[in-house]
Amino acid sequence: MNLRTLQDIPEFAGKKAFVRVDFNVPLDEIGNVRDDKRIRHAIPTINYLLDKGVSQIILASHLGRPKTNEPGLMTNKVAEKLSELIGQDVSKIDDWGENGVPDSKIVMLENIRFNKAEKSKDEIERDEFGKHLASLADFYVNEAFSNSHRSHASMTSIPKFIPGYAGLGVEKEVNAIAGAIESPEKPLVAIIAGLKADKIVAIHNLLPIADKILVGGAIAFNLLKAKGLNIGASKSDDEGMAERADMVKEVSDSDNVELPIDAVVADDFRETANNKIVDVDAIEDGWMALDIGPKTIERYAQFIVTAKTILWFGPIGVFEMEPFANGTKEIGKTIACSDAVSIIGGGDSASAVKSLGIEDQMTLVSTGGGASLEMIEGKQLPALKILEK
Ligand code: 3PG
Repeated sequence: MNLRTLQDIPEFAGKKAFVRVDFNVPLDEIGNVRDDKRIRHAIPTINYLLDKGVSQIILASHLGRPKTNEPGLMTNKVAEKLSELIGQDVSKIDDWGENGVPDSKIVMLENIRFNKAEKSKDEIERDEFGKHLASLADFYVNEAFSNSHRSHASMTSIPKFIPGYAGLGVEKEVNAIAGAIESPEKPLVAIIAGLKADKIVAIHNLLPIADKILVGGAIAFNLLKAKGLNIGASKSDDEGMAERADMVKEVSDSDNVELPIDAVVADDFRETANNKIVDVDAIEDGWMALDIGPKTIERYAQFIVTAKTILWFGPIGVFEMEPFANGTKEIGKTIACSDAVSIIGGGDSASAVKSLGIEDQMTLVSTGGGASLEMIEGKQLPALKILEK
């Protein structure tokens, strides 16, 4: 992927930059920012533009998935947090510049998803809004990798009207993920786990690329079920598997795909449920697999230690419940000890890595769950495609 980046911007001095960020951050009960990682992530690009002498930065972000323009989803708190982090005023306005934009150096618009045109299914409507937003600035910067799988006005329409560039974070993230898929240092070991059958698309796309694909989560047990094993009361996505029957067959037939050989099973989906370790061909009716077992951990670890590139998407078991967190912990620790290039994608794996305290040992913890997964699935992200040279 050959994106136009900040280095391609011909002139900064006196120019206005429209920067689409992803400040879609978790908030606590009183609306304060609970995790400012995504806000901090945009700071290098903001500082780069300021250092280069732009006259103004106009920031836009979505926050949550608003239905009725809930006041709790206004961007005031994220603007305040940014101001605190960069030590500069950030002027928050309550619209999208329809009534003008203050003269301040940094301006934050209202939650872009409060404007119905942002996510409109009608491209003309999105483009009209995008054209208005474009009129506020001289050039556009996408610093919202995590929203780049969305064809929204602030992602794909604005750069139709003013030149668009990838921000520093987008550039880094895209290069890391694309590099790992297109020209990885081998062996490439991918660890793919998840709840639903849609992860099959990612596994299928990785078949010709990865040397080993280690599967965890409910999807692993769905694949075992497809091979004829009884998975008891484990979560199954029969519809999703049936929709992807051809892919399921190819994945099941591949020697490069490893499935669990044992599991931690429980008699209920509760932390305090009875649990035990069984081989995968001994799961009884009424019991559900909630984590991989020790033999599987050992087997998977043998592949991980040989890897030169590791992709990890999705916690291995029900990480939030202590009795079923061991698979995720052990796989995480093994990756952390490895010298391989390690790329962690998906919101839940990012939280797992964070809570294990091993974030700094990873090469890249992607900011985007859906976006990074779509890249792994081989899809083109619309908001990046429009920034291609
Ligand atoms: C994310 O949190 O993954 C991005 O901000 C995209 O948000 P969305 O899933 O609500 O489109």
